[in-house]
Parts: sequence; C-alpha cells; structure tokens
Amino acid sequence: MRGRWKAAAAITLSGMLAVSGCGGGDKKSNDDASKVEVFSWWTGPGEADGLAAMVADFKKNNPSTQFVNAAIAGGSGTQAQAVLASRLQNRKPPDSFQGHAGAELLDYIKAAQIEPLDSFYDQNDLRSVYPQQLLQQISHQGKIYSVPVNIHRSNMLWYSPAVLKEAGIGGPPATIAMFITDLKMVKERTKKIPLSLGAQWTADHLLENVLLGDLGTDAYNALWKPGADWSGPAVTKALTDFAEILKYTNTEAASTDWQGAAKDVVDGKAAFNIMGDWAYGYFIGGAPNGLGKKLDTDFKYAPAPGTDGTYMWLSDSFTLPKGAPHRAGALAWLKEASSKQGQDLFNPKKGSIPARTDADKALYTGYLQYAYNEWHKPGIKLAGSFWHGVNATKKQHTDIDTAVGLFLQSKDVAKFQAALSAAAKNSGQ
Ligand code: GAL
Repeated sequence: MRGRWKAAAAITLSGMLAVSGCGGGDKKSNDDASKVEVFSWWTGPGEADGLAAMVADFKKNNPSTQFVNAAIAGGSGTQAQAVLASRLQNRKPPDSFQGHAGAELLDYIKAAQIEPLDSFYDQNDLRSVYPQQLLQQISHQGKIYSVPVNIHRSNMLWYSPAVLKEAGIGGPPATIAMFITDLKMVKERTKKIPLSLGAQWTADHLLENVLLGDLGTDAYNALWKPGADWSGPAVTKALTDFAEILKYTNTEAASTDWQGAAKDVVDGKAAFNIMGDWAYGYFIGGAPNGLGKKLDTDFKYAPAPGTDGTYMWLSDSFTLPKGAPHRAGALAWLKEASSKQGQDLFNPKKGSIPARTDADKALYTGYLQYAYNEWHKPGIKLAGSFWHGVNATKKQHTDIDTAVGLFLQSKDVAKFQAALSAAAKNSGQ
C-alpha cells in the first residue's frame, strides 16, 4: 500500500519542501467561534448537495456558530482558486478552504499560508482513522496540514446505453484505440454527440485520462517526477490520440461547465463523457439540484478507456489558513469534516467515498459500492490526478492549462508537446 501511494503521487510533500522553513502555528490565535466562513467551489448542481448535508450536521452540532458559505462557482475551482489566491495574498483568508491533497496543498504550505494541524489531530484522535499513505500526502516535515473529507476517482467513463445501442456498440471501450473507433461509429450512425465536453478545464481532465489510458500507470506516474521527460514517442502518440478524440466532441463545449456536458449523456444526447465521479452525485441526486436519473437505465459507467485496474485519485481536504479570523469556528468545521458522521453525510451525495477508513459501507450503493470496493481492492494501482491537485504544482497546472487552450485552437501536436515538456521543466519541483 505504501509503495502504491508513493508511486501515485510521484512526489512527497516532505521531499519537495526540504528548504521551506515554513510551518509553526499562528501565534495570534483567535478564539472566535461566532462564525465560520468556508471556501470551496461547490455551488453547482450535485456538489452543493454534499456540502449542504455536512453543513446541516455542522449547524446541529454548533448552534451558536454562523456558517457562511463562501463557495464560488466554476467546476474544479477554476474561478475560486484565483479569488482564493488573491485573498491569501492580501491576508484576508477565509476561515477554512478546500485544498486538494498532494502538490496543490504543498504550494500553500510553501507559501506559509496554512497552519499545521497536529494538535487538532491528536485532540480528535484522528491519526489512526485515515490511511497512513493519505496522511503522507498532506504532511510536510512531520506535520499534518489538512483534513481530507473524501476520495474521488477521476478516470471514469459515463455512457448512455441507449446511444451505444443506436450506434451498434456492444459495451464500453476497453482501450483508447477502441474508444476512437466507437466515437467514429457514433458520429457515422447517429445524430448524437460522440463525446460531450464542457469548459476548457474538462479538456485538461480529458487529457489526464488519455495520458493514463495510452501510457499506462507507471509511465503516467513517471511524468510527474522531477526531471520527467515529456518529449518521447509515447507522449506524442497519446497527444495525437487526444487530438483525434477532440474531433468527436461538441462544438459548443466551452459554453457549459462539467454539469452540462455530463447531463448530455444521461439525457441521451451524447454517447460518452469522461468526468470524475462527482458526476454520479449529480446524476442520481434528487430535485432541485440533482437529476434523479437511474443507473443502468439512463446511464452506465466504466473505467476510462485503457485505465481499468487503476484508481486515478484525488482528495478534497479542508485547511486552517494562517490568520483565520474565526479560528475556533474553523476548528469546529474541521472537526465536522473529519468526523465519520460528517463524511457519511457528505460523500453519498457528493459522489465520492470517505477518506476515513471506518465509514458505514452500507451507505455506498450503486456506483459508489463499486468505487468503494475498487479503492480497497488488493492490487489496485494508483495514479494521482494532475488536474485535481495531486501531482502537479500550481505553476505546472497553469502552464498545462495554457498549453491545452492553445492546442484546442491550433491542434498542433508538436507545439503542444513542446509546451508540455517546458511546463514539466519549469514546474518548480
Ligand atoms: C474537483 C474537486 C471535486 C469537484 C470537481 C468538479 O477539483 O475536487 O470535489 O468539485 O472539482 O467541480
């Protein structure tokens, strides 16, 4: 298990921060629990419901603390992270914010923007309820810096059984090559969208899936190690496939976020969508936010092509920013987010499985039962989602996004590969 996690993250926080000299709690601690401002990007249909479920429990447990939901719209935090960066820079932090375990969290630690939480972990007996390997992903120089609330899987293919049937496709594609054949069949034989895509970040998300599917787990994980070489023929092949796959996406893609793209599948307007399992929470959730759709009838799932046996993971975690105005309120929120009860309320709606190891398994049904079993399956391989914070620094993340944006216009594979190679070289690792 230990080895799996190490390989998946490709970088450990402690390794990267040998010289940071940061850490240490904020001396001016604030005991104000009258309020807590919690920052995330969970405003949209689906993910907001998971947050609301945990907030309701928080309010019950903390009746005198006012909960302020500072969520900013935009899937995968595209808008929220920019706003957060400027708030942190101007020393106007929220009381707690969502930061992904792994390299993204490391950037906050490196910038001395968040406090270590060791005494919080001790007081709440938390060290033993999380997998040790996950704790490694949120630790630096022996100190723990966040509270993971879940594990999401990024490499999922959602598909419409009706559209596949119409196109004469027997089942989900097992490889990238089969995927391309299927996309072609959908295009030639139906009027449906072969692969639905949304805002630009959903193309970044697709890219990590095509890289994993084409390169395999070990070579994908190697891309995120310091000094990684992105210039070889295997990457060229993956990027060429990425270009081919993009030919089968909807032209109006950029005007919608992930929800619109995912909805096309369950509405029978598109054959396939590649998206993290937050899509599941959105599909099955009830009104007013969820779509109330039925697994196996309205949609089905499979690992993204070429990735069966690998869990491309990410973990949402909450932090204690330095100088949080309502520090005691923040600690109460972290307690909720770390609790078995909080996680078991949040995750079934969010479409994720709990980060804690002692969840009530019976609550995870349908796709989530599959996810739970896969995550705990002996021999499952792990890969870190680069787009969702696990193994790319913020700099590399931004540089890749810029390269993807240009590529969506130019479709020039050689230039794209050169830009990705440069992004790896300048990642700051
Ligand atoms: C991820 C985040 C998920 C979900 C998704 C889509 O970055 O970890 O919890 O919110 O973005 O917005």
